[in-house]
Amino acid sequence: MLDDWLYQRTPFSWERAIHVIARTEGLHLKNDKEVNAVEEKARKLVENGGIFKADVHTKNVLILNNDQQKPKDQTYDIAVSVFCLESACSTHDEYKQALKNIIALINPGGYLILGSVIDDVIYNSGLSLVGDSKLFTLLDLDEEFIVKSMEENGMDLTTLKSYSLNNDGVAFFMIAKNS
Ligand SMILES: C[S@@+](CC[C@H](N)C(=O)[O-])C[C@H]1O[C@@H](n2cnc3c(N)ncnc32)[C@H](O)[C@@H]1O
Repeated sequence: MLDDWLYQRTPFSWERAIHVIARTEGLHLKNDKEVNAVEEKARKLVENGGIFKADVHTKNVLILNNDQQKPKDQTYDIAVSVFCLESACSTHDEYKQALKNIIALINPGGYLILGSVIDDVIYNSGLSLVGDSKLFTLLDLDEEFIVKSMEENGMDLTTLKSYSLNNDGVAFFMIAKNS
């Protein structure tokens, strides 16, 4: 899907999403030209960095296609993972290892931004071929376990900022890696 957007293979319009993101960043886009400029700027940034498949269960996380060169950088200032680890992991030990793999990608003093579903074991998304809700399983997580796993894997708890939406069962964390 990201590749389709980057190489403009589908006619899907991201205009509404761009307006929402721009608003949260304090911008008010006045016309199509301004919207297009934001989209083009994002395209160039993503094109420069590249798009790589990820498997959090592998040590290096990034999975290269045959035609892809290794990215220039091996470690990064920021890693972002939103609502992925609880889908990707089926045990708490697996979760800790996956988090460790991600944290290994972050430079000392760099940041992890993590969004997580809390206290839930199932979610639905889309429809199956026969029209039923498609159900996916989740690892049951609580904030205490997530924060402890971060600390055990080299993150600096004194920098932790967390934000919980208790009614929606989600939490967001921003934390720096030990320098
Ligand atoms: C609930 S979706 C979240 C998607 C998106 N980040 C969002 O917030 O809407 C869970 C995501 O976990 C990803 N995922 C599952 N197993 C994974 C793995 N082993 N490594 C990396 N990502 C994985 C899936 O590709 C899927 O996009």
